Amino acid sequence: MRIILAIGGLSLFLAVQVSTRAVAQQDQAPPAADGLDYVMFRAEIQPVFAAKREGLVRCIQCHGRGSGAGGLAIQPPEEGTTSWTEEQSRKNFDAVRRFVTAGSPDTSRLLMHPLARAAGGDPFHGGGKHWSSKQDPEWQTLARWVRTGAPAPTTTATLDFEVYRSKIEPIFIRERQGPAGTVTCAGCHSGIATRLKLAAPPGAGGAWSEEQSRQNFAAVSSLIVGGKPTESRLLLHPLDPAAGGDPTHSGGKFWKSQDDPEWQALSAWVSAATPAAGGGSAARSLDFDYFKTKVQPLFLAKREGLVRCVQCHAGGTGSNLRLSPLTEGQTTWNDEQSRKNFDSASRLVVPGEPTASRLLMHPLARGAGGDPFHGGGKHWTSQSDAEWQTLAAWVQGATTSSR
Ligand code: HEC
Ligand code: HEC
Ligand code: HEC
Repeated sequence: MRIILAIGGLSLFLAVQVSTRAVAQQDQAPPAADGLDYVMFRAEIQPVFAAKREGLVRCIQCHGRGSGAGGLAIQPPEEGTTSWTEEQSRKNFDAVRRFVTAGSPDTSRLLMHPLARAAGGDPFHGGGKHWSSKQDPEWQTLARWVRTGAPAPTTTATLDFEVYRSKIEPIFIRERQGPAGTVTCAGCHSGIATRLKLAAPPGAGGAWSEEQSRQNFAAVSSLIVGGKPTESRLLLHPLDPAAGGDPTHSGGKFWKSQDDPEWQALSAWVSAATPAAGGGSAARSLDFDYFKTKVQPLFLAKREGLVRCVQCHAGGTGSNLRLSPLTEGQTTWNDEQSRKNFDSASRLVVPGEPTASRLLMHPLARGAGGDPFHGGGKHWTSQSDAEWQTLAAWVQGATTSSR
């Protein structure tokens, strides 16, 4: 019981961090990559959060305060009014979207958390069960909205789904010892903003539905280079550096060697796929010239009271951002050094998603949605900061000719 509580507490803590990010999103955020319909959200979804249901408190009464219960923060309308301003609606849209899987109502926490367990909902919701069945008109409206979005396209045809389901997925819900106690991959990775976005772990003895497994499969596949286990982030991140793994994984190093049976299972699965499969390289949609001319100078810039990024990140911070040291007498990087910087920085962003990108969130003030702590201090106080915006544009695929 204590173990379960510990995991629950952790994912709650992580969920809170994730959503504070969503809250601080830009008002003029670009159209959602997931295609969810904003106009419908404003007209039909938002009112659900203010509606009164018998014997229950309105969603906004709990989710409208501070960072919001469970990390879901929905701003209530201004005192004395019953509708939301455009700005509030945009913020709510961004906050709520985080709890939705576009195209898939059944894997959307927003719909499943307050749904009665007997109707397929999550086991528990601190705010009670607001819908007793999926036939509830409100639930149906929410489902219709979720279906306005489309799941991210994937190019994973050659990774075997059946093998994934029987051999790989169980790895994510197996209990293991982490630096801070017993954990599961899914316990963390259902709550935090990384590319490995897993569905909430099924209850004890349960299993993920096929639909959830398909969603997990898509997320997992984006971290794999078909045919190449040792180039696949999924296999390198939790692997001990001494065994060829990445230098760090915040969750811990779970595989001491490539002989680990879990690692072997992953390796066999990845090897059977052709190199064309999987997203693999994040660099694909990120523009090198834009990086070189617009982003890279930010690593050299001096900010008041702070040390330049390059001063720490070209030495040993023990972190994954590794910049090339400047050649003596030079004030900027040459092409080869820039390429290395590009590779390192690219691994710390999720293309298309600035607020899921550590490069942007780590040095951003916590109050603006950033990570709780950065060893190098907080370099940007808001997401409106021009530098932060430049980084966001890069992550969203800007090229030197487009801007
Ligand atoms: C009485 C207070 C209360 C009310 C009312 C309430 N909630 Fe919650 N909600 C909570 C608490 C506390 C949590 C965190 C614990 C948990 O996960 O149940 C939570 C968690 C959630 C989560 C999960 C967030 C996560 O971390 O994944 C969702 C989604 C959610 N609520 C949606 C709603 C919706 C939609 C409504 C209205 C239909 C609503 N809640 C009404 C208190 C409330
Ligand atoms: C205690 C929480 C925790 C656990 C448990 C955990 N992770 Fe992580 N993981 C994180 C965090 C935080 C990050 C983001 C920072 C980083 O990259 O280290 C992350 C990042 C990753 C990434 C990189 C994702 C990306 O977007 O590039 C992979 C892959 C990964 N984890 C795999 C796993 C696997 C596989 C397991 C289980 C064997 C696991 N993790 C268990 C917290 C955890
Ligand atoms: C005073 C030294 C220092 C400076 C200056 C500094 N950092 Fe860091 N940075 C660190 C240390 C130490 C860590 C590892 C501990 C942590 O995660 O905070 C780190 C971690 C990071 C990470 C997380 C990488 C990972 O492994 O997940 C990112 C991203 C990052 N820094 C970006 C930046 C950027 C961008 C700048 C400039 C705007 C910057 N840092 C300036 C010391 C510094």
